Amino acid sequence: MNPVELADGRVVTIAPLTPGDAPELAEAIRHADPETLYRRFCGPPPKVTPKLLKYLTELDFERRYALVARDQDGQGVAIARYEATKEPGVAEVAVVVAPGWRHAGLATALVRLLAEAALVRGFDRFTATYLADNIPVAELLDEAGGKRVISEGIADAVVSLRPRA
Ligand SMILES: CC(C)(COP(=O)(O)OP(=O)(O)OC[C@H]1O[C@@H](n2cnc3c(N)ncnc32)[C@H](O)[C@@H]1OP(=O)(O)O)[C@@H](O)C(=O)NCCC(=O)NCCS
Repeated sequence: MNPVELADGRVVTIAPLTPGDAPELAEAIRHADPETLYRRFCGPPPKVTPKLLKYLTELDFERRYALVARDQDGQGVAIARYEATKEPGVAEVAVVVAPGWRHAGLATALVRLLAEAALVRGFDRFTATYLADNIPVAELLDEAGGKRVISEGIADAVVSLRPRA
């Protein structure tokens, strides 16, 4: 995939996540700070097992799709994914950006790319579940036209996917 320039001038390359990325993903989850993990998984993170890694990296790129952003040295700095839900046309989206790469539009760029991929695969809505006090993700989804319902500290947002003008 093409390089993407972020708002702070840094450049990442974005590519599909593959099974070959499993060892790096395992290290990233093991070494991520507790707050990032808590926010990504809306609670305690799952244990890193071969089964989990297989699940996270073996994707069909139709109903389960993920992108990884890498820095100029090839180090992974963000992952975004969608997974089809039981509801036709609806996929759940999740994104995580390494702390040193935040506030530069990376999550926004990844979610846009995911939305484009999802649209051509027949999805018309993204849902996202996140801790209600997670302002960056709330803003990201609001900006994309999301509507949210908050219950017991957990927000559920729905975003209608539209082709970009
Ligand atoms: C949520 C997260 C993915 C955002 O990544 P990011 O690359 O910094 O996001 P962006 O730079 O694209 O910014 C997205 C929006 O959040 C806003 N934002 C970013 N960081 C912010 C902060 N600390 N406080 C307030 N707003 C913030 C931006 O202004 C932007 O709003 P806009 O779309 O209205 O312009 C990142 O903070 C993260 O990985 N958090 C931990 C994991 C997580 O919470 N995942 C979401 C649950 S699935």
